[in-house]
Order: sequence, then structure tokens, then C-alpha cells
Amino acid sequence: MSELSLEQKASLTSGSSTWDSTAVEGVRAVTFTDGPHGIRRQERRDGDALGLTHSVPATCFPPAVALGASFDAGLVRRVGAALAREAAALGADVVLGPGVNIKRSPLCGRNFEYFSEDPHLTGVLGAALVDGIQSLGVGACVKHFAVNNQEHDRMRVSADVDERTLREIYLPAFEKIVTEARPYAVMCSYNKINGVYASQNRWLLTELLRGEWGFDGLVVSDWGAVNDRVEALRAGLDLEMPPSRTDDEIVAAVRAGRLDEADVTRAADRMRALVRRVDRRERFDGWDVDAHHELAREAARGAAVLLKNDGVLPLDPGASQRVAVVGELARTPRYQGHGSSHVVPTRLDDAWTALQAAGTAATLDFAAGYRLDGVPDAGLRAEAVAAAEVADVTLLFLGLPEEAESEGFDRTTLDLPADQIALLRAVAEVCPRVIAVLANGGVVSVAEWRDAAAAVLEGWLLGQAGGAAVADLLFGAHSPSGRLAETIPLRLADVPSYLHFPGADGHVVYGEGRYVGYRHHDTLDTEVAYPFGHGLTYTTFEYSDLAVTETGQNAWTVELTVANTGERAAAEVVQLYTAFAEDVPSRPRHELRGFRKVFLAPGEAQRVTFALTGRDLAWWSTGRGAWAVSAGRFTVEIGASSRDIRLTAELTTPGDGHLPTLTGMSTLGEWLDHPIGGPLLRARLATDAPDLAGERTSPMMLALQRGVPLVKFRTFGVPLGLAAVNELVEAAARAAETL
Ligand code: BGC
Repeated sequence: MSELSLEQKASLTSGSSTWDSTAVEGVRAVTFTDGPHGIRRQERRDGDALGLTHSVPATCFPPAVALGASFDAGLVRRVGAALAREAAALGADVVLGPGVNIKRSPLCGRNFEYFSEDPHLTGVLGAALVDGIQSLGVGACVKHFAVNNQEHDRMRVSADVDERTLREIYLPAFEKIVTEARPYAVMCSYNKINGVYASQNRWLLTELLRGEWGFDGLVVSDWGAVNDRVEALRAGLDLEMPPSRTDDEIVAAVRAGRLDEADVTRAADRMRALVRRVDRRERFDGWDVDAHHELAREAARGAAVLLKNDGVLPLDPGASQRVAVVGELARTPRYQGHGSSHVVPTRLDDAWTALQAAGTAATLDFAAGYRLDGVPDAGLRAEAVAAAEVADVTLLFLGLPEEAESEGFDRTTLDLPADQIALLRAVAEVCPRVIAVLANGGVVSVAEWRDAAAAVLEGWLLGQAGGAAVADLLFGAHSPSGRLAETIPLRLADVPSYLHFPGADGHVVYGEGRYVGYRHHDTLDTEVAYPFGHGLTYTTFEYSDLAVTETGQNAWTVELTVANTGERAAAEVVQLYTAFAEDVPSRPRHELRGFRKVFLAPGEAQRVTFALTGRDLAWWSTGRGAWAVSAGRFTVEIGASSRDIRLTAELTTPGDGHLPTLTGMSTLGEWLDHPIGGPLLRARLATDAPDLAGERTSPMMLALQRGVPLVKFRTFGVPLGLAAVNELVEAAARAAETL
């Protein structure tokens, strides 16, 4: 870098336009593009960041809400590779995605862009998308780092979250992706974390991301996330996007001795390293539009979740029945959310056209039923009821209006529009076989109306081929195979973050801690509408022969057999949860540590294998500032949802062997339980203070004494003076050193 002037280096640390970094002598500009479920390559490149809907057509794949529900890392990887091909063909070097924030509340306006309430699922799928994108040499940019779990006040709010919750819930997906998929870039979020802007957070961007996780890529700001460029550079942010045109301030700060030139050089070096990386990307003139549409359709099929089915689905394509297709959303689909991820699709399938084209023996009638703007329309409702009355079955397409879900603001309710629910009730009165098909990017409540439907297919936002995919599923060409990546609560008030969302006065307190989603519901055993991991298919599966084998120090293999015992080909999502079998520091009831989507023909069986390590059993110890594995027994649970555990087995771990350092303030109990301190203390007490934890001490008295720090006993008249305690502390330290 020495050949570049300070001015040139400073200009490498900010963009030259909304989407491009700055070119300087010998270093070309890198072009970024949104992301994440399709390429939003803007036609105008002159700062039209808010011209969100003006971009070059590209395949609109299912947004992350749907990819999350696919539980299918292989599929997500293929979508990633397709995204990269389109990005490259459209002249972009880095795709701004995946978005891997945790769904803390179903109200978050951007949940459609995120995978799950669970960090493991989010991390695996996020890593798969990065792998796919980078398989062609295009860069992925993981976002929004970190703790950006709401849209309300997102540019200022401080997410106040305790260290253990950060480590166990909000950071693991980023950690997994950074350490395993090695993304070219990470985008910092707008918000503050415990009072410090992510863009200026040295702990986050340097100590954790680079120091602990070994990240060697570029940190870019979310668009407009930089508040103080000097602070940001110092903290480890490399590139400000879009440019605030303040490079001269960087130069001035260096000249005035307020900023170390090394900080500028380091950021500029990283920019240059990114250029070298993306220079190796593959070049394409275009892509196979049909093939990518087909992939979008396959992904959509794999993502829809069959919540309920009393046997009405699948519809028999050979039956000459009358089918009423009701709902404007069948004709005018909602297939993505609003905001920076908005893609102009290459084509768009709607369910009504797809159902007509499916070549079934059914007679199909369409009725709009309601208006998308929510204005009650008695005429439309009457037409729909009339169509349903003469139908054998009614396919009722319901969903949230476009305005309800967007980047930039949160939802205020989980409810579907009231006129749609009223329509459902009216239709169900005249037609007993109503199949509700949902379109929504964030969870909607179903408890109030699901009894009126014979089946409910949760279609999320399924991308440009969603209409055709839904037709495939309803008429049984394929079995549904999506699973809930987030709990559907009975009521909004049951959501664990309910009392703390979205905060006030610039702060949002993560008061529910680690108890997000099923971690809360399953720990308290509260009733939910549908649990995490739930999803029906058109067949049945049986689980058997679970075996847990120890393969090394804190390493195990878990194996089981899953068999398709029904009549149709379908996929099962085998889920592995770990749970403490013993009383150890407060933990969720169980946590997802593995999943595998297994496609099986009728009668087919497959052995499924998982690897478990100590980290899968670990908790974050704030005392140690490290992951801790407690010695003891754990349960390995294999299930079809977090509430449908089919097989369990136990394993025992010796723990991580960590020996706490004993001090005078360590309690009697901590001393007695310590493999080194215990014998030392006992020997001492036997001679000096036989009444303390001695033979004649009652269990109750012992329990009381165990909680008292050693130095305190002298004040209670126990002959264990300060000198004796200090000797013990030193002896324990010496013995620990020789281990
Ligand atoms: C969003 C990012 C997006 C960027 C560029 C921001 O407002 O939060 O996700 O990549 O804009 O459009």
C-alpha cells in the first residue's frame, strides 16, 4: 500500500456511488448489489437508493422466510449459486446477503428477509447461501451485524442485550457463517449494541469478528450506518457506503494526529484484498431464465408448510370435481416483501393461472372475494360465497396486504385482515372443504380461524414461481416438505419478547434473554398454535434405531433410521435437539443442534448421521468469558418438531475440564467441590475447624455453610483466619500450575 498517498487510501474507505467503491490507481471499484433473494441491480446508478422498484429483471427466488422453512441446505446452496450467476451477468461483484438476524418477534417488519428464530438453522442456511454465492467467485456480504431484530428506530436504537444472550442467540449464526463459509464481506447494522453503534463498535468489528472468529474479509457499513467516520475506521469498519463525501475529514484527522494512519492503511488494504478476490470471479453474459425460474419453483415447493390437513389434501387431479378458487391473492400474488430486497422478477406465476394449466379433471371457478386494499366489498364476498356453495372444495387464498410488511417499520398485529377472516367464515358455512392457502412474510395468527378450514397451507412469500409451486402441492404432484422455522403462537401476547418490543426512548431491552421462540414455549410448556419444526406431508414416517457413539473427547456420532411408511414420496426433516438431563445453570429445555431433510420414496428407509461436539452442549459462561461444557448427562432428542420428539438417548460428558481459580471469596461449596481445593481444605478443616462441614454438621447447616465465601467464616467465630485462607489459596494455585 505504500505507493498510495494518504488521500488515495482514504478514498478507498468510502464509495464513489450508491453501489460502487472508489477506484484509485491500480485498484478498480467493486460493485455491490442487493440481495438477498434476487439481484436488485438498479438501472440508475446515480444515487437512486430509494428508487427501490426500478431494477433490471432478475429471478425473484423465495425470500429467506421461505428458504428458512425449507430446512434444506443443499437447495439453499443451489439458490446461492444461481444468485451469483445473475449477479455476475449483471456486472456485480458482491451480493448484499444473506440476512441472518434472529426473528426475536414475529412483528419485525423485515422477518421475511430472515431465516428463523433459531441460530443453528439460521447459521447452517446462511452458510449454505454464502457457499453457493461464492462458489462462482462472487462475494457474499452477511448482514446485519448485529442484533438488528426490529425495524422500529433501527438507525438509532440501542439493543440492550446481556452477554450470554448475545453469545447463545444473536451471534452464533454470524459466527458459524464467518468461520465455516468465510464470506468476503460483513455488513454492520445501523443500531447500537449496548449503547455503541455497530459501525463504531470495536469489540464487535475487531475483537470478536476478526480476533475470535478470524474474519479476513471486508466490513462494510449498512447503507448510511456510519455516524462518525474516524471512530468507525478506528473500530474496524473498512468501507462506508454510500459515501458521505467526507474523505477529507479522514485525511485531516490523520494529519492532526487524531487518527493513526495505520487504521486507514489497514482498511484500504482490505479493500484491495476484496478487489483481488472478486477479480477471480467467473464472467457470464446472461443466465438460463427458464432454469432459474424452475429452481425458484422447486425452492418454493420445498418451503410451503402444511400446517393442518384433515385429509382433504392432496386433491385428486383425476377427479372431475368443482373447485372454487377464491381470493384476489390467487390472481395477484404476494411473493416478496418491500424494501431494499425488492426484485423485479423475470416472470411471475400466479396460482389461478397455474391451477388452470395443471391439466387436472377439475372444473375451476375464480372469485376475487376481497380487495387487496382491505376495503370491505360485499359484492365480491357474495360472489365468492356463491362460487363456494356449488363447489366440492374451495381453495381460499388469504394473506397480508403488501403495505403490511416492509423494511423500515414493524407490524403491529399478527392478524390477517378482518374482511378476509369474515370471508373464510362465510365460505366455510356453505362449503365444508375449505383449504386456506396463506401468503405472508411474517407469522400470522391462525388460532382464531383455523377450525373453519379443513387444511391450511402456509405459503409465506414464495418468490416469482410460488403460484406454480402451490398448484404442484395442492394437486399432489409433490408433497409439502417445509417445516416451521418459527413458532406460530396462539396470541401475540404469548411471544416472549412481547413486553419488551420494540422499546422506547432509544432503547430496546432484550428482557426475555435467551428464551426466544421455542426456547421459551418449550421450557415453560405453554400452548402454541404450531410449534417450531412442525409441518405435515402426504405420507408418514417412522423413526428407529437411535444410537449415540462416543468418537473422542466430547465428540459423538448420532445415528438413526427414518423410513417412509406411507404411500407417497415425500421429505422428512429429522431434527436433533440436545437437552440437559441434569440440573445445571439455567438453560432452555432443549436446543436444535442438527437437522437433515431426507427425501424418501414409499417404503424407503435411510440411516441419518449427525456429529455432535462439546460446543453443541456448551453454554456461555460470563464468568470465564468463554464457552463452558458442564460435566454430566445430556439427552439427545430426535424429533419431527420441537414438540414431537420420537427418539431419545443419553450421553455423558466429563465436561471441558475447566478448573475455576479459587480465591478467598470462593464459597465453601466451591472449595469442597474443587478437585484440588477440596482435599486441601478438608485437610485443613480436620485439624483447625472440625465443626465446619464436619461429620457432625447437619445437612441443613452444611447447605447454609456451602454458600459462604471462605474469608467470611472468621467473622462468624470459625477458627479459619485470613492467613490460613491465603495459604490455602496459594497452595491451590501452586497445585493447579503443576497440572
Ligand atoms: C438495508 C440493507 C441493504 C442496503 C442497500 C439498507 O437500508 O438495511 O439490507 O443491503 O440498504 O440497499
